[in-house]
Amino acid sequence: MELFVDSLKDIYWAEKHLTKALPKMQEKATTDELAQAFAGHLQETEGHVTRLEEIFDMLGEKAVTKKCEAMAGIIAEAEDIISDTKKDTMTRDVGLILAGQKAEHYEIATYGGLITLAKTLGLPEVAEVMVQTLEEEKAADQKLTDIAESNINVAASGEENS
Ligand SMILES: [Fe+2]
Ligand SMILES: [Fe+2]
Repeated sequence: MELFVDSLKDIYWAEKHLTKALPKMQEKATTDELAQAFAGHLQETEGHVTRLEEIFDMLGEKAVTKKCEAMAGIIAEAEDIISDTKKDTMTRDVGLILAGQKAEHYEIATYGGLITLAKTLGLPEVAEVMVQTLEEEKAADQKLTDIAESNINVAASGEENS
């Protein structure tokens, strides 16, 4: 139970920081399609923060964050990608999609594990709340794959290195 609550604090930090990183990724994206995907997932991510607060409440725990080193690293990498790629290039979008998918996969792994743990701990109602978030993370990941496959990767392959 202690480990479960500790892990909730970690993903709570991650979700909160994603609500700050996603607007930057939206602003720096080249295509409208990718910018819209980040904007849409920002709204969902705000909902993920709220759901975690509901879960802390259900457990009678205070909603506090604990620095998530993994997500801090993924966000730092996204910032590096922005500074290492030229504005208005498809290469920029390829990099942002890669960074975005790393964030989604971290979230998918975390919620997947926490859902199993919540069930083991006899907290099915907590698991149920996290399932809703997990579905949105999976859909966001799929959306990024679809965008990459639609035309961005091909268009970027014709660009010179930045
Ligand atoms: Fe999330
Ligand atoms: Fe996400």
